[in-house]
Amino acid sequence: MAVQARRAVGVDIGGTGIKAGIVDLDKGILSSDRVKVATPPGAEPDDVLQAVRTVLDTLGVAVDHEVPLGVAFPAIVKGGRTMSAANVSKAWIGFEAEKFFEHGLGRSIHFANDADVAGVAEVRYGAAKGRSGLVILTTLGTGIGSALINNGTLVPNSELGHLQRAKHKGDAESYAAYSAMEREELSWEAWAERLQWYYSHVEFLFSPDLFIVGGGVSKHADKFLPMLDLQTPIVAAVHRNNAGIIGAAALALG
Ligand code: BGC
Repeated sequence: MAVQARRAVGVDIGGTGIKAGIVDLDKGILSSDRVKVATPPGAEPDDVLQAVRTVLDTLGVAVDHEVPLGVAFPAIVKGGRTMSAANVSKAWIGFEAEKFFEHGLGRSIHFANDADVAGVAEVRYGAAKGRSGLVILTTLGTGIGSALINNGTLVPNSELGHLQRAKHKGDAESYAAYSAMEREELSWEAWAERLQWYYSHVEFLFSPDLFIVGGGVSKHADKFLPMLDLQTPIVAAVHRNNAGIIGAAALALG
């Protein structure tokens, strides 16, 4: 009899979209379609919960509690509580989010920061696999998320998207996230100049051994990574924008 692959469901809640899939944890790939709905305007807890129900329903796992479930969220997550809210409703600050989802979905879940779980996915199944030293994964999306991984161990909640820009108003993500490129209709060249500032700054602060770039735009990595001039190698996430789903699922199985 064939041995069934270990599998879990990953849900990646972002500022713009909520993505989910069933993940084959032996291979580290999606074994279902990737399901996506828009993040409800304002991203209030009740509306986000409803959207998560919708994606689980579409995947056919809303009532199947046998498959472990991991949920990733774009905020600082400490002990199951969300402690910040850059691109979601302020109601999430100091909110018992893990308990809220568990109660609302009627099952236990694993809950963590979205960039951190993407980092976990790339350590287990992607560009950071087997890498020693300090790896910094950044996600370029609505915001900038970061995962610090030292010798394979995650240091959670690093929040390097909120580095302040000296002499300028605002933080790194308001200037250099993919959403800034879209909002300001920047060319790849103009955006790459902003990324140059960002990655040089992070490089100076942390002297990493590898940068990994995730988020939806990582599928166009060839359009901007070659323009960056850094000491540190910089590569696209192997799992591109699915790293969050895969990492959330991986975390659910432990
Ligand atoms: C949030 C981070 C998150 C990142 C990417 C930032 O605005 O503060 O927690 O990882 O966006 O979603």
